[in-house]
Amino acid sequence: MYPLRRNRRLRTNESIRAMVRETIISPNDFIVPLFIVEGKNVKDEIASMPGYFRYSLDLIEKEVKELWSMGLKSVLLFVKVPENLKDNAGKEALNPEGLMQRAIKTVKNAIPEMVVMTDVALDPYSAYGHDGIIANGKVLNDDTTAVLAEMSLSHAKAGADFVAPSDMMDGRIFEIRSLLEDEGFHDTGIMSYSAKYASAFYGPFRDALDSAPVEAKNTPRDKKTYQMDPSNREEAVRETLMDIDEGADIVMVKPGLCYLDIVRDLRNTVNVPLAVYQVSGEYAMIKAASEKGWLDHDAVVLEQLTAIKRAGANMIASYFAKEAVKLIS
Ligand code: PBG
Repeated sequence: MYPLRRNRRLRTNESIRAMVRETIISPNDFIVPLFIVEGKNVKDEIASMPGYFRYSLDLIEKEVKELWSMGLKSVLLFVKVPENLKDNAGKEALNPEGLMQRAIKTVKNAIPEMVVMTDVALDPYSAYGHDGIIANGKVLNDDTTAVLAEMSLSHAKAGADFVAPSDMMDGRIFEIRSLLEDEGFHDTGIMSYSAKYASAFYGPFRDALDSAPVEAKNTPRDKKTYQMDPSNREEAVRETLMDIDEGADIVMVKPGLCYLDIVRDLRNTVNVPLAVYQVSGEYAMIKAASEKGWLDHDAVVLEQLTAIKRAGANMIASYFAKEAVKLIS
């Protein structure tokens, strides 16, 4: 009589497997990161992110129309700021005619229903490549959050649906929420990078925006005084619960693959939507290994995205969004 249970019965063929499948990815799951540069007709491939590009505004319009036609309904905007506009105050970040502000309008103009999320942090605007203002070798917290709130307001005025602070300063969600409320932007949401780790997987992104911390006297070499220590788990829960208290609508774990334990911890703890950012280094690893013929690209992409969702992500920011949608349709 043994065995009464044969688990392989439910794996007999694809029809049965499809019937009992627990995790299914769809276009609704994705947030598409977009890198934007000044100029006309610019489509620059990022060296460490093969197949991913920086676009000028005219081509962004085309790109978001294509995304929309594929069922992708949400974008996360990043801008590459010309070197001569960088400083230690984030002045250009507040320019109502800045590249980010024009990008928001361009996307909203092209597809009004597209959800526009914007990166809020000073690193693309910082002469030092840091997410905040530097003084005496330190990244100042409260001076930075004041600018981040103004930056968020500027994005809201340009038409952003969600601002996405990725800086990990203390108290920034409260500062941003308060200013948005005071100014009447009750419906502008906040997606907080609430558990963002000081990860070595952000390298290709910093190439894309030319935003790595610079080697200079009295400047921190890395982001470890604000981003989290990869060794810590309880701290992710503390950070995230605080951001929810301060008014975050959506919270996030970043990077993805190495942090799926944190994703599950948070999914079991919080009752707001949880995003996961599958970052540039994760993209680069898959591209490099499959270029060498060492991995089956398409299968690995879908397996990783499925694993991120299975761990508890309600949405995934991923450079693979377009490729994944093509593969599943
Ligand atoms: C900057 C920011 C980073 C990423 C998103 N926003 C880099 C960093 O913190 O240095 C990384 C995204 C990626 O690697 O794909 N605030």
